[in-house]
Amino acid sequence: MTSLHQGPEIRRAVIAGTGSYIPARRVTNAELEATVQTNDEWIVQRTGIRERRVAAADEASSDMGAAAARAALADAGIDASQVDLILVATCTPDMVFPNTASAIQQKIGATRAAACMDLNSACSGFVYALEVGSKFVASGSHQCVLVIGSEKMSCITDWQDRGTCILFGDGAGACVLRPGFGRVGVLDCLMESDGSLGNLLYVPAGGSRQPATPESVAARQHFIRMEGREVFKHAVTNMTRSVQQLLERNHLTSEDVNLVIPHQANERIVSAVRDKLGMPPKKVFMNLERYGNTSAASVGMAIDEAARTGLLRRGDVLVLVAFGSGFTWGATLIIWDKD
Ligand code: ACO
Repeated sequence: MTSLHQGPEIRRAVIAGTGSYIPARRVTNAELEATVQTNDEWIVQRTGIRERRVAAADEASSDMGAAAARAALADAGIDASQVDLILVATCTPDMVFPNTASAIQQKIGATRAAACMDLNSACSGFVYALEVGSKFVASGSHQCVLVIGSEKMSCITDWQDRGTCILFGDGAGACVLRPGFGRVGVLDCLMESDGSLGNLLYVPAGGSRQPATPESVAARQHFIRMEGREVFKHAVTNMTRSVQQLLERNHLTSEDVNLVIPHQANERIVSAVRDKLGMPPKKVFMNLERYGNTSAASVGMAIDEAARTGLLRRGDVLVLVAFGSGFTWGATLIIWDKD
């Protein structure tokens, strides 16, 4: 456990640059009305989502992730050759193997990157990967880590299922982690999981449990299955509790927090968490009306947007919080150290 009050000698990971990539194609709620029995009013009222982006057919997670990584490196003023670790959070990798991180290494020319790995914690992926990357930087073993969340959710979305196709979108977000000293950067992270609830949100086929067959394709088993109401309940409870626990163990209250960036699942989940934390809307970031739920990419995309639009200032207390399939969830406490 770390604390805001620890001395200046502590080495931590600081976010030195952010970037994102938003695919060009917009799919509005009106467009979905033409393919499934739904309507804009229902979608907006139940989810807050108005449109989402869908990647091009020839655009894979590594292409989007590489674009976000290039933007983050440019923002940090760092050349790709300085990166010594690439971590990619995704549940929609380019292929089963090799990993998407290695594909991104090649695309951005990170010739020195000694280690490239993917991490799958579904929608909690960015929070998990940021913590893993931060530990590498804080330990002193690595000096420049790229953390990327990239998802092509459109390729595991059942566009015939109105219960799920309205929710998801594609995109990528990235952060460059560098060492910082003192009360700055990633201070603490709480990560938890409950594997007994894996059956509430999953993709049945395509893995070793149920390899792809003509039958599995015909039965649409390569797409997301979800018990929406159950996901909703667990997401609100665990996102709220993890922020409360994180703040408590760092001797902080919600009033000390300048900005919360939650996983952009849907407006009702985010508002319920916000109300339980007793925080005003301006302190809880939301851009899901434009992008939908981009799974492991959402938190990285949101950090980049918040930074670029001036919502984050040096010294601000930033809390990230996410929840996803597994179930997995987690929250991160950061002192923003960037202009
Ligand atoms: N358009 C119109 N009607 C719909 C649609 C749709 N797109 N989808 C479902 N309905 C209907 C249902 O068929 C049902 O009709 P019925 O009463 O005739 O049976 C009715 O609307 C109510 O369905 P519910 O599923 O009970 O609706 P609910 O209010 O729970 O809203 C939703 C569904 C939006 C999915 C909600 O449960 C939710 O937000 N869950 C969280 C899911 C989530 O965020 N998942 C993302 C992955 S996990 C994560 O990122 C945290």
